[in-house]
Amino acid sequence: MINYKVTSHHPRLGYEVCQGTSLKELSSSQRLGLKHALWQHGVIFARKQHMNAYELEQFTLDTFGPMMIGDNRYRKEHPPLPAELVSNHVAILGNPLGPAEKPIEAVAWQWHHDKDALPRLEGLTMNALYIVMLHLHKVPGTDSDGQPHTTHFLDQLEAWRSLSPERQSELRKVKLIHSPPFLTPDAWTAETPLKTHPLVSEHELIAREGLYMGSDTAIPVGLEHDPDAAKSFWQNLLDEILEQCVVYAHPWQEGDIVFWDNSQVMHCGQPYDSIHQQRVGLRLGVVAREETALRHS
Ligand SMILES: [Fe+2]
Repeated sequence: MINYKVTSHHPRLGYEVCQGTSLKELSSSQRLGLKHALWQHGVIFARKQHMNAYELEQFTLDTFGPMMIGDNRYRKEHPPLPAELVSNHVAILGNPLGPAEKPIEAVAWQWHHDKDALPRLEGLTMNALYIVMLHLHKVPGTDSDGQPHTTHFLDQLEAWRSLSPERQSELRKVKLIHSPPFLTPDAWTAETPLKTHPLVSEHELIAREGLYMGSDTAIPVGLEHDPDAAKSFWQNLLDEILEQCVVYAHPWQEGDIVFWDNSQVMHCGQPYDSIHQQRVGLRLGVVAREETALRHS
């Protein structure tokens, strides 16, 4: 992968919301404002929040509706995790119980979006507004490169606009077969939820076009039997847009909640030393269905 430019002051991504306000106490008009900012900016964040897993679910229900994705009941029934981290749908990231060889989120230390892992559900389209939020209770002092801990976000709308008209018309013809992240075709089974989707896609709510690249396991239709060519296609396109776009690196502070719209951005977690540094995060995904209904009403 190429070296790309990063900034913590991106012109569109990474907009701070609700300064000095607890997300637990938002009025309905403040909730609308938060969502509006999210659709406009793709990535937003609120600082200095203190929510346990249950409160995060409650906030999500009140703000985005009930379609939370993720089942954490197994963890819930298996202590000794601190009660404040445990609820029905919130995933616990990092090493809350102390040093770990490989934290659960290590699989996300590469460019991807979070939609490929969504189950097939009736009425849930590929373009569904799938929002993920991450609330860090503990932030590592540094990443493995010695720099402050960040997560990187790449604007897929900007990436599309950065391409030449010739390249755009070439890519308009491409459809990708998406599978759950980190699963190569040799591991596909009849139950694997494969989803085919155009590489260029209009955002369900803001009606702007962007790339829909998914994860590096995505395979262009026609290259199902040529994994090397499929991989090169995806990687070369990623390198091409990383060369032209500046990446937003969110500088984490304890108490941050970052929200991202997977229909607008890809992201890449940054590795940290999980033996000597502690990271504790709550992650929750939700499909904001009501918003889509608004557009179609
Ligand atoms: Fe992710």
